[in-house]
Amino acid sequence: MNAGFPVSRPRRLRRTPAMRRLMAGVRLHPAQLVLPMFVKEGISEPQPVVSMPGVVQHSRDSLRKAAHEAVEAGVGGLILFGIPAEKDARGSAGDDPGGIVQRAIADLVADVGDATVLMTDLCLDETADHGHCGLITEGGEVDNDATLERYASIAVAQAAAGAHLVAPSGMMDGQVAAIRAALDGAGFPEVGILAYSAKYASSFYGPFRDAAECAPQFGDRKAYQQDPAGPLGESLREVRLDLAEGADAVMVKPAMSSLDVIRQVRDLVEVPVAAYQVSGEYSMIEAAAANGWLDRDRAVMESLLSIRRAGADLILTYWAVEVARHLR
Ligand code: PBG
Repeated sequence: MNAGFPVSRPRRLRRTPAMRRLMAGVRLHPAQLVLPMFVKEGISEPQPVVSMPGVVQHSRDSLRKAAHEAVEAGVGGLILFGIPAEKDARGSAGDDPGGIVQRAIADLVADVGDATVLMTDLCLDETADHGHCGLITEGGEVDNDATLERYASIAVAQAAAGAHLVAPSGMMDGQVAAIRAALDGAGFPEVGILAYSAKYASSFYGPFRDAAECAPQFGDRKAYQQDPAGPLGESLREVRLDLAEGADAVMVKPAMSSLDVIRQVRDLVEVPVAAYQVSGEYSMIEAAAANGWLDRDRAVMESLLSIRRAGADLILTYWAVEVARHLR
């Protein structure tokens, strides 16, 4: 017996940087990071997003340059959000072969081809004038089943432009099945679906609505996105449904306020699990760091490690390029 002193000493494994490096249970790799990018129709210079310092709305040209840089840095993928010059109730730009996302994806296919994974957010909110993720009925509700037809058509347009993966984010019931059937029917069986499966109605999407200019013009998204106080098990139900409908990988969103959900999903499924570190998670850290209230670089790494530790295989993060460079 060693009188009162601890026998088990976890600190042994923390003594030196080399020891901590050897013993690390969680690692980040550039290939696990996906960079969300915004491209706006009709601008010639990138425009800063005020609520997301360091993030811009790209022109088609500046998007190409930034995509090159991201590929150079080794990020695993890019996910594209488009802001069309004209919006209407049906979100017509979404499935127009000349729509901004389709044109931008075609640019990137020509430039970087298969050197990275090109993904598209698949929703109505960025292209619809009302800012909701689905079509609106006369009574002012989001019409689930009518919206599925729009998603199917958008998926085909994005696949035809060259997207490797489409990522439906609108939280309509049955969206994955509708999109899978449309892709297969149009001759795109090889295009995969990364489903935003467990997506909460979150205040942390606030800055994104400036970046993508898609704030709902009335009401909110609570009738289709999940309630943070919703039924326990709801996320797993959504994930199971999406897998049964043909999702190739699933996503949890936001990340840091859903670490428990990421872990539950990781333990449930056999497909890759993505987590989206959303705009508000980015802006919180940037704003606190700008005030000198926390150490920015450490906070960024710690946030990403916590998301990995929760079980995410891939992480969508606005810091993807910076962190990828840091890791190399
Ligand atoms: C919907 C979509 C949103 C985000 C990604 N896809 C906004 C929303 O659901 O309100 C948010 C991403 C972020 O906040 O970084 N197309």
